[in-house]
Amino acid sequence: MATPTVTIHWGDGLSRRATVGQDWLQAAREAGVTIPTGCLNGSCGACEIDVNDAVIRACIATVPAASGGGLVVQLASDPAW
Ligand code: FES
Repeated sequence: MATPTVTIHWGDGLSRRATVGQDWLQAAREAGVTIPTGCLNGSCGACEIDVNDAVIRACIATVPAASGGGLVVQLASDPAW
C-alpha cells in the first residue's frame, strides 16, 4: 500500500509533498525551509509554526493527513524570538 502524502504550502508559492507522519523539521528541510529551533524537546517554543491556523511545535509534531487543499504553514513571527 502506498504511503500517504500531503501537500504542504510553505508560503511564497513554495509547495512540496511530504509523507504523513514525517517529522515537521525534516519536511521543512526537504522543502528548503528553515524552522528555528532551540531545545528540540517541546519546551521552548522556538520552533512554533502555524499549520492551518493551529500553532504546533514542529520539533515534537509530525505531519498530519489533510483533506482538500493540504496544509498551509505560516512560520511564526513571535517578537520574543
Ligand atoms: S525547539 Fe524548543 S519547543 Fe521545539
